[in-house]
Amino acid sequence: MFISFEGIDGSGKSTQARLLTDHLRAAGRAVQATREPGGAPGAEEIRRLLLEGAPDRWSAETEILLFTAARRDHLEKTVAPALAAGRIVVTDRFVDSTRVYQGITRGDLRDKVDALHALMIGREADLTFVIDMDPGLGLARARSRKSGEERFEDFGENMQRRMREGFLALAREFPERCVVIDGNRKVGAIAADVARIADEHLP
Ligand code: ADP
Ligand code: TYD
Repeated sequence: MFISFEGIDGSGKSTQARLLTDHLRAAGRAVQATREPGGAPGAEEIRRLLLEGAPDRWSAETEILLFTAARRDHLEKTVAPALAAGRIVVTDRFVDSTRVYQGITRGDLRDKVDALHALMIGREADLTFVIDMDPGLGLARARSRKSGEERFEDFGENMQRRMREGFLALAREFPERCVVIDGNRKVGAIAADVARIADEHLP
């Protein structure tokens, strides 16, 4: 079982991925918790190239290549071995983030994202939680973290709004694996929904 969390910056993905991991482990299940970009040593090096520096550092096309390179390393070194060992993988972001961030925010590059994904990755999550939330609130939360990884957050609230729409459109496009979760609530209420839905999908 391969579970991904998706949504705009500051929507609560990392928080919910951690709480789901805790919930599954408390039930005695083996879980590999991971994230993108990153999740393996080489992919984490690519993460730094992507998230630090000026917003115009890379073109959208170059970003698609870098995110896909990081994803390939993550898949080879972390995701595939964990799934083969029978562990549940919980990832904070996967290819849906590339479909939205690189695929729609600077022109229509979705076909290129999908073509490269088919060629180099060829795998979707089995279950995707799309955490939906107010873009202004998400941006405020993300900025309050001050991680030094603000390259994308610098794009501003208008872009966050388009990305939110993009994630909701993806959830409609892939209804068999995507569940939209209302993130504008207390952490515990969201986590309870996520845990219940994950349990329903697990054998
Ligand atoms: P993401 O991984 O989507 O960027 P995080 O889980 O890192 O989001 O959350 C961003 C910030 O908002 C963190 O400081 C986190 O503690 C806080 N946060 C997360 N979920 C909630 C919530 N439901 N209500 C209030 N604050 C939250
Ligand atoms: P992340 O660390 O998950 O940020 P946050 O916790 O703020 O949501 O991801 C870092 C940034 O990378 C985020 O702004 C989204 C962006 N990103 C892409 O643009 N494309 C991708 O394929 C991925 C995985 C992330």
